[in-house]
Amino acid sequence: MSHVDRLALAVETGALPLPDDGTVVVLRAAPSRFLSLMPPERLLCEQGFRPLHDALSAEDRPVLPVVERASAGLVVVNCTRSRAETLGNVARGFAMLPPGGLLALNGGKTDGVDSLARQIAKAVPQAGSYVKAHGRVAWFERPEELPPELRDWAEAACPAPTVSGHLTAPGMFSPDAPDPGSQLLAESFGPGLTGRVADLGAGWGWLADACLKACPGVSELDLYEAEYIALEAAQRNVTDPRARFHWADVTKLGKGTSPYDVVICNPPFHQGRAAEPALGIAFIAAAARILKVSGRFLMVANRQLPYEAALDAAFSRWERLHETRSFKVISATHPRRT
Ligand SMILES: C[S@@+](CC[C@H](N)C(=O)[O-])C[C@H]1O[C@@H](n2cnc3c(N)ncnc32)[C@H](O)[C@@H]1O
Repeated sequence: MSHVDRLALAVETGALPLPDDGTVVVLRAAPSRFLSLMPPERLLCEQGFRPLHDALSAEDRPVLPVVERASAGLVVVNCTRSRAETLGNVARGFAMLPPGGLLALNGGKTDGVDSLARQIAKAVPQAGSYVKAHGRVAWFERPEELPPELRDWAEAACPAPTVSGHLTAPGMFSPDAPDPGSQLLAESFGPGLTGRVADLGAGWGWLADACLKACPGVSELDLYEAEYIALEAAQRNVTDPRARFHWADVTKLGKGTSPYDVVICNPPFHQGRAAEPALGIAFIAAAARILKVSGRFLMVANRQLPYEAALDAAFSRWERLHETRSFKVISATHPRRT
């Protein structure tokens, strides 16, 4: 990843004009030098991913998980891995601007920023562009009348029911159907799984729901998820009264968490675009921290991901319950107390 702040350079070189007044709204904001160029009283960041939200808060940036409504002088849309989510944010961004206001799309080539900019330019004429650091900032002036494409993009990004009736949205993990890895893990759930349960990285709630349905002896199930809108969807998808919902960074769990009898988990394996076993390793460590000494950890992972050393470090005993060509299901007990 490049450390050059493309947006900051676009402003500093005078390529991207800043409006004299109005709020600068940044969708999918992340800590960056660009934010420090903005007058704090004119800045509003949106970030629903808890670790980045907390990092922005720690820098005293004004940040909300969702900006419902704003009247902006400039909107910046940072691209995400999901094209539909980014186009949805572009549509929301234009709706926050007065006619003539600027919307700037910022992203790397690997985010597909060039083709996104071309697609937007077919609906709204492009006003300028700045290419730097394997990516682009492209900006567009809000027309008097918003073109119909924007309504389509907004609709496509909204949560909608899948064929199985679950509410999901683009950008969430496995938005079209339950993940096969989670389905394999759920095969190990049964009446023997009892007590207080935590689901780490609960997404839109399929795994937690499967656990509640298969396990009448579960007294409560806490869903921990970092993505705000995925957790909101989970709240709609998991209606069992034993469920509780936590917008949280799992890697920070530990002190202050009442210990659990069981932790279930299909850990995240991507950060940005690259496969990132470090995140799954941090989830394994968190599971060990929040389990009772007598507790059990049930996890599914892509077969090739190297979690064995992390399991050895966090648990005295673990075994593979199932292994397929794609996945391994792991059961671990006796969490180590360091
Ligand atoms: C592989 S998905 C599993 C989702 C769900 N349990 C399922 O089976 O469909 C992992 C989830 O972890 C979430 N996640 C990523 N980093 C996180 C973090 N630091 N804290 C909490 N959740 C996180 C992702 O947003 C994603 O929903």
